[in-house]
Amino acid sequence: MPAISCSAPGKIILCGEHAVVYGKPAIAIPVFNVATNCHIIAQPTASSNETLIAAPGIGLRSRLSSLRENHPIRKAIEFVLDSMKLDHLPSCEIHINSSIPSAAGLGSSASTSIALVRALSMYLGHPFDDAEVSRIAFEIEKIHHGTPSGIDTTVITYGKPLFFIKNYPYELLHLRNSITLVIADTGIKSSTAKVVAEVRSNWEKSHREFENYFDQIQDISRNVKRCLESGNNLTLGELLNRNHCILIEMGISCSKLDILVKCALENGAQGAKLSGGGQGGNIIALVSSEKAETVAEAIRHAGAVNTIITRVPSEDEKAK
Ligand code: MEV
Repeated sequence: MPAISCSAPGKIILCGEHAVVYGKPAIAIPVFNVATNCHIIAQPTASSNETLIAAPGIGLRSRLSSLRENHPIRKAIEFVLDSMKLDHLPSCEIHINSSIPSAAGLGSSASTSIALVRALSMYLGHPFDDAEVSRIAFEIEKIHHGTPSGIDTTVITYGKPLFFIKNYPYELLHLRNSITLVIADTGIKSSTAKVVAEVRSNWEKSHREFENYFDQIQDISRNVKRCLESGNNLTLGELLNRNHCILIEMGISCSKLDILVKCALENGAQGAKLSGGGQGGNIIALVSSEKAETVAEAIRHAGAVNTIITRVPSEDEKAK
């Protein structure tokens, strides 16, 4: 059997995080500047339980049989075998490498699941279609995050900007004008599962207040969609700023996120907000392509540990 390699990108949430868990719309964008790669090499001479998993980024080097039962990698393999009605994985080595920082809101867990599920299905001779990859990755995401909306696994599987409402078919977004984003990492690791659970507990305690936040975010996401489709980048920036303010009120920001957002705006970004689970991780800043490098440099100066500049092309550019 030949060696197989599959990659999956990272992602950012442009708007609507957290509210999306409660059935409100959100917008997500794949980020191809970072990726997870899964490489599977057949070991036909090894005994059947000799599969080795090596993921140096998370300090993992283990036999499959030694992984704890609900380890996401072990579960991913089980889900793939179940889907194919197979009872074991022919011996192999699975190498997972990622340039996506973990616990930073860039979809590292979803990206790992998707690269792994795709590579396994190819290795086993029946490449899954995107719908099956997304379905299985969502099951694995539940182990990581408890009650995910499915937005991360969907955007990373399909690799296109999308408008997402939980339990509904996603809508692809067609941008009238390209947009450029600076993604900046606070360097603060934050567990999405923990923040999602905290929001749930606050929603239970202050139901009216949180429903009101979610309704406001819903309006923002619908307006962001209109702005992207009509090419109104100025209003888009204002909407991102409003989304960030609501996330602050919901207790999802932190001082470093706010410092980086402020710095982006002071240096010419059209809008900026935290992105993903929050309480750490990354901010995104909407910038003109000319200002991207200046804004990125200023944010690094203000304490970001890393910046990425990513561009989402317009429909016209994609057609060329
Ligand atoms: C994480 O990228 C986005 C959240 O809304 C969680 C989810 O939708 O599963 C915080």
